[in-house]
Amino acid sequence: MQRDVTKAVFPVAGLGTRFLPATKSIPKEIMTLVDRPLIQYAIDEARAAGITEFIFVTSRGKSALEDYFDHAPELERALEEKRKTDLMEVLDATNMPSGAIAYVRQAEPLGLGHAVWCARRLIAADEPFAVILPDDVISGEPPCLQQMVEAYAETGGNMVAAMEVPDDKASSYGILDVAEDDGNMARVKAMVEKPKPGTAPSNLAVIGRYILSPTVLDTLESQRTGAGGEIQLTDAIAAEISAGRTVSGLRFRGQRFDCGSKAGFLQATVAFGLARGELRDEFATYLRELVANGMAD
Ligand code: UTP
Repeated sequence: MQRDVTKAVFPVAGLGTRFLPATKSIPKEIMTLVDRPLIQYAIDEARAAGITEFIFVTSRGKSALEDYFDHAPELERALEEKRKTDLMEVLDATNMPSGAIAYVRQAEPLGLGHAVWCARRLIAADEPFAVILPDDVISGEPPCLQQMVEAYAETGGNMVAAMEVPDDKASSYGILDVAEDDGNMARVKAMVEKPKPGTAPSNLAVIGRYILSPTVLDTLESQRTGAGGEIQLTDAIAAEISAGRTVSGLRFRGQRFDCGSKAGFLQATVAFGLARGELRDEFATYLRELVANGMAD
């Protein structure tokens, strides 16, 4: 019987160059969507899916991210004295119980596959694990990883979150070559990372949520660099298929924002701002006026 998915790896060791100069001193995952850092959305999604152990693959310059999960006794005391119970609850969601969170270092940014491999000693040989890329923010109900955990309970194997992308964008993603597709779940026969324009086997792209078999870590052990000179997670997952194990792509229900890009981050800010009851009216009025005054020019 397969084990439940209770561990998640968060690869957060990238350089975040698309957000320079901000990322010179602020980790990308600490950048704020409305009023909480990207990493908080990822943690909330992981908890909703039943994750209880959190593994962060970090690098130099990420101390603000590590500090974020610590208790803040002075702040907590001040809020308590002022009886700000709503803010105390908000703060409570940022705390991690002792021992629930682990940090491993990626010494050099050699790619996403390499970052995941850095967590190998914290995953048992029979233990499936989730991977969450915090810069893919997904709004959905139930949250994306929960949808995947529920589907995984039926399928086992390996599972990736999948989304259709326009043909001219396929070369920016890992793309699935699909054997069978029931419109909800695709059985994958091959995967290709960042296919050259015009060569993508489909327009079903991999988004930053995965449930993986620990055998992927064995593959990563000896894996060479792939697209872009990086050690690619997509290639290690594709090797699972050659080894006779299954890979499924779940078309999750929800909307994904690429918060690793400036345009995606701005779109997420508008969507999440409008979704917040306390901001909606004022923000929507502002946006309507902006459009009416011809901001498109
Ligand atoms: P990205 O491709 O978005 O790279 O990584 P990046 O370095 O974060 O950002 P840019 O492209 O320079 O702006 C996708 C995810 O993989 C992690 C990143 O932290 C991000 O969560 N990653 C990437 C690593 O942890 N290590 C790596 O070597 C590469």
